[in-house]
Amino acid sequence: MKRDITYLGRVINVNSGNVEVEIAKEIPSAAPIIAGRLYKIGQIGTFVKFTIGSLTLYGLVSSVSNSPRMIETLTYEPDYGSRFLQVQLIGEKLGNEKFEKGVGTYPTINDEVHIVTDDDLKSIYGEKTNGYVEIGKHSSSENLAVYIDTHNLILRHSAVLGSTGSGKSNTTAAILKRLLTEYLGSRIVLVDTHGEYSSAFVDNSRVFKINDKVNPLCIPFWAMTFDELSFFLVGRPEGQEQPADKRLREKIVELKMSNAPRLKAGKVEEIYITADSPIPFDIKKLWYDFDREINATYNHVSDHTPDQECLEEEGDPRLLRPARFTPYSPHNTVPYKSKYQTMYSYVGKIFSRLQDSRYSFMFNPPDYSDEESPNDIDHLFRSWIDHNHRLTILDLSGIPFELIDISVGLISRLIYDSMYWGRYEEYTGRQRPILMVYEEAHSYLPKSERSNHIYGYARRAVEKIFKEGRKFGVGAMVITQRPSEISETILAQVGTFIALRLTNSGDKNTVQSAAPNNMNSLIELLPSLRIGEAIIVGEAINIPSRVRIELVEPRPSSNDPKLVEAWTRRFETNEEQYKSVVKSIREQKQ
Ligand SMILES: Nc1ncnc2c1ncn2[C@@H]1O[C@H](COP(=O)(O)OP(=O)(O)O)[C@@H](O)[C@H]1O
Ligand SMILES: [Mg+2]
Repeated sequence: MKRDITYLGRVINVNSGNVEVEIAKEIPSAAPIIAGRLYKIGQIGTFVKFTIGSLTLYGLVSSVSNSPRMIETLTYEPDYGSRFLQVQLIGEKLGNEKFEKGVGTYPTINDEVHIVTDDDLKSIYGEKTNGYVEIGKHSSSENLAVYIDTHNLILRHSAVLGSTGSGKSNTTAAILKRLLTEYLGSRIVLVDTHGEYSSAFVDNSRVFKINDKVNPLCIPFWAMTFDELSFFLVGRPEGQEQPADKRLREKIVELKMSNAPRLKAGKVEEIYITADSPIPFDIKKLWYDFDREINATYNHVSDHTPDQECLEEEGDPRLLRPARFTPYSPHNTVPYKSKYQTMYSYVGKIFSRLQDSRYSFMFNPPDYSDEESPNDIDHLFRSWIDHNHRLTILDLSGIPFELIDISVGLISRLIYDSMYWGRYEEYTGRQRPILMVYEEAHSYLPKSERSNHIYGYARRAVEKIFKEGRKFGVGAMVITQRPSEISETILAQVGTFIALRLTNSGDKNTVQSAAPNNMNSLIELLPSLRIGEAIIVGEAINIPSRVRIELVEPRPSSNDPKLVEAWTRRFETNEEQYKSVVKSIREQKQ
């Protein structure tokens, strides 16, 4: 009997979504050529199809064996050289209709099994339409583009996973480039912890970086809640409220209120203002006033009002110069020591924070504290998420490690809040979604706060985006080499997995349990993928696929030192050379 050239064999067992196939012995070659292309039969991760009338079922080869796996005994003698395929059903297609994931009908014993050709696959992946972007080429066929559904990729969230050097940064850059070229209204914020990406988006991004002349990265301290701010300023543990904390809270409210009538984004009624309100205030004045309060000396034993002060010099809060007073007398005579000592233990701590230049991106945001031009968060939002380049890179490479958590937390919360409260505006919110991309997510979005300097600020803010963001137009993508260390809430909300080579078995298992449940055979391939090759499963892709991602130019730069180059050179140094390093260590300033 003359068989179709794509004929592969027949079904010998069906068990829910798993089907076992015996490859026909009359198949002449393990690698037939169909329409000029060579197909390898029985490659794990390739597709086969079952035709039942006008319905075609598609399945994925999960293992290959020379004896049946799913049935104990055959009722007939298999031929010498028999081969068996175990296949997972993944979707179906009725006539010329669209491919659908999931199956409603199952094949039965003796149904024919066929090779899936490129033409079949094209009809599954679909033609390129507005809602799809190309992510790469199918691994088994150089000409077959793989498209992903933009809406689902972004709003159902995604994860790019893979060991170091497997091609995550390149994959991310490739996806972002596509999105930026295809969609003129796109907007993307990339949290770039190692400062890798600006080189890949030289002309089409706005890069914020600490101490940058044009676009300095500023994350204003006044956007912190009282708990956050008091923790970073004076190390107050959450929940604790000593008299000094109460005083700090009152002072912050007072300063915020005094600023409230002249905010650039509009006046705010006093009754709405709390210590948590994101309202700019002058933190140097806060320090100066407290310093003055504890260090002042007075002419009168109990009347400690400003007109009784023994002032010698006003000082200047802007320059962090305290007011100077005649020293108090140790013998309880004039001048008397200030009776207000509540803030004694905090003043020094606040001063050293404000003086530490590593913190100045947070405590010295230039525009916001300037009395003459009090900028406001609307300005920050516009500069971050509303500009021509559409891609904002927040380069956090200059941020001290202990501030990464709170910085990512604040960035995420500010953007989320702007989308939530702007959800009905026609220029933002639901009407103009945004994609947040988190590089090296394991370092600040961990499962639990075991590590030093991670207090869960970033995790809580990003989890909220993963859980609720979709409703307000915020999508997210996390990139990590350690999926097993990432917050489970985040992983559970990931709709699409783009998994590159992953060698650690714990990480692989995490992906296996988080990915759609019939994808085990593909996930098993993760350790053996080539660089730049990914398994893509989930909501943004019609059919789980093994994809080759193109190498983008220009590339993201890994910030590794050029070791061999450096070690090949000879260095001549002189006695002066380490002095500037020491000065930087001492001044905490570059
Ligand atoms: N799709 C690809 N094709 C070919 N080479 C790639 C591809 N992706 C990455 N590479 C190579 O691997 C290196 C590491 O890639 P990178 O994206 O930085 O990995 P990761 O971010 O996972 O550590 C790149 O410098 C590049 O040389
Ligand atoms: Mg990388």
